Amino acid sequence: MATDTHVKVPYVNLGAQYAGIKGEVLERIGKLLDSGAFILGQEGSDFEDSFATLCGTKHAIGVANGTDALFLSLMALGIGAGDEVITAPNSFLASASSIALAGAKPVFADVLDDFNLDPEAVRKAITPRTKAIIAVHLTGRPARMPELLAIAKEHGLQLIEDCAQAIGATLNGRHVGSFGITGCFSLHPLKNLAAAGDGGVITTNDDALAARLLKARNHGMRDRDHSDFFSYNSRLDNLQAAILNVKMRELPRWTERRRAIAAMYQQGLAGVGDLLLPQDRNGERAVYHTFIIQTARRDALKQFLQEHGIDSKIHYPVPIHLQQAAAHLGHKRGDFPETEKQCATILSLPVFAELADEQVDQVIRSIKAFFAS
Ligand SMILES: Cc1ncc(COP(=O)(O)O)c(C=O)c1O
Repeated sequence: MATDTHVKVPYVNLGAQYAGIKGEVLERIGKLLDSGAFILGQEGSDFEDSFATLCGTKHAIGVANGTDALFLSLMALGIGAGDEVITAPNSFLASASSIALAGAKPVFADVLDDFNLDPEAVRKAITPRTKAIIAVHLTGRPARMPELLAIAKEHGLQLIEDCAQAIGATLNGRHVGSFGITGCFSLHPLKNLAAAGDGGVITTNDDALAARLLKARNHGMRDRDHSDFFSYNSRLDNLQAAILNVKMRELPRWTERRRAIAAMYQQGLAGVGDLLLPQDRNGERAVYHTFIIQTARRDALKQFLQEHGIDSKIHYPVPIHLQQAAAHLGHKRGDFPETEKQCATILSLPVFAELADEQVDQVIRSIKAFFAS
């Protein structure tokens, strides 16, 4: 059982993040409420401008959530019935459900030990019906973009980036969201840059696609009175944008802190038990949305940590291809061995920016104690 000598370590602490920016957030929200400009206003376009600047893209388009960012990207690219889109089976559901919602077929390719798509597996999954690849930068670590871009080019496929977990991550100095035809971001409360509710962003360098996406998020409307195509409502609220504009300034500091915590874990847990730890490869700058360790004793370790007041999570225990929702795709256990192995061994440790060094030390000490016992 947890004792008083143990530091309590939650998995996240959104209140602690808010405490640091409360004054400014409340002031901005107050102004917005006074103005009554709730939909598609200045806060929203300011946020889109700074988001595009951060990612190094020509356009950033605020939408209602990360799932819509993926879905609208597919829709705007004309991908739908009869088409196949390749993605990773170890991701959050939305990487695949967005494909199905667009009317296309999600096709999975297995991942590498860094949790990201294996380019060779992608190559093997290509059929005459394949139209696109959705590369997921899972855990905040960039996927193998040079290889995936080369495959996409060779086969005439669109490459969409699922950047939901990777805002600010770079590969050879280039930001995720700037490699593919679109970059799709989530601003869900648990993401590295988080709204006070749902939110999302699509980045692109393609002017024509950006113009189509701007309409697609707003009933296909070209102006107040004319619609060019039927679409739906997926806008980012100004109220959320006002909060996000405050948080955007803090993001580099929060990311540095996440990276510093990751470095503490990497140092403190090196060589402990059978642990596999994430490491930045050459040229990668991961943003550690999650810090996922792997061990054959995962369930026992999770239980031990819980008993010592440390919360941990599993992202994700059931792969997408084995979900009931995917039953119609006809997959079975064993289809994606690396993904399935990871589902049984992965454990996400707390890595949020407000975590104190003392708490990180507590996690490290507890994990060492588990493996020593
Ligand atoms: C990898 C990935 N893709 C897509 C999404 C969907 O984002 P949202 O929850 O904002 O719809 C998420 C987050 O939930 C995610 O982690």
